[in-house]
Amino acid sequence: MATRPRPPVIAGNWKMYKTIAEAVSFLEALKPKVRDTTHCEIVVAPPFTALRAVASAADGSNIRVAGQDVAPEKEGAYTGDISAPMLREAGCTHVIIGHSERRQYHQETDEDVNRKIRAALEAGLTPIVCVGETLDERERNQTEKVLKRQFAGGFKGLTGQEVSPIIIAYEPVWAIGTGRTATPETAEESHRLLRELVNGRFGKESSQQTRILYGGSVKPENIRKLMEQQDIDGALVGGASLNADSFSAIVHYD
Ligand code: 13P
Repeated sequence: MATRPRPPVIAGNWKMYKTIAEAVSFLEALKPKVRDTTHCEIVVAPPFTALRAVASAADGSNIRVAGQDVAPEKEGAYTGDISAPMLREAGCTHVIIGHSERRQYHQETDEDVNRKIRAALEAGLTPIVCVGETLDERERNQTEKVLKRQFAGGFKGLTGQEVSPIIIAYEPVWAIGTGRTATPETAEESHRLLRELVNGRFGKESSQQTRILYGGSVKPENIRKLMEQQDIDGALVGGASLNADSFSAIVHYD
């Protein structure tokens, strides 16, 4: 495969799966499979309860750990929430923000996403910011409008310097957990639009550095074609990231 302009990222979002024991045994299974991997960055996002144990198991390896959400505040009377400094302390380097399941089931808005990105950056965490249209929005030809709105709201008031290291994940909601992957060409169209939006708002340098991942029914069988697209810099994987064999097959897409 041709040399890539940006280091790819393969990230696994475990959602509400895996006990601490299951999470640690996943790590022990994955580590030897990716020991020599240098062509991409590897991130796993366990549930909160398993973060510390996974971070310890990943210590000294090339596997990084992400939270699946973060509170916009540092501390306070926010029952059930976890702050960015807490994620850091637990061993996270990254955090997923604005996943469509958070937007759908917890009514997260673009403004929430914006506040969470700021909180993550302030704590030194790399945000993985999710955007993407629903099936209804796609069918009504609203994809571009939705992505523009999510981008404008989520990245409001940030500087180019802040945005460059941020990872964007394009996850069309209709492709999540449905087995219905966007074709590489359809995904590339949205990725190109997102990179143009970064370029228009934050300049060329940021747009060349920001990694844009694709998410939605990524499997060992379809990752290669997706990765051939110029603006697809990796994947945010749900279901297929729960098994060390299939996740490592995705990591070894090349
Ligand atoms: P699936 O890979 O299970 O479709 O999930 C994608 C996703 O939501 C990753 O964040």
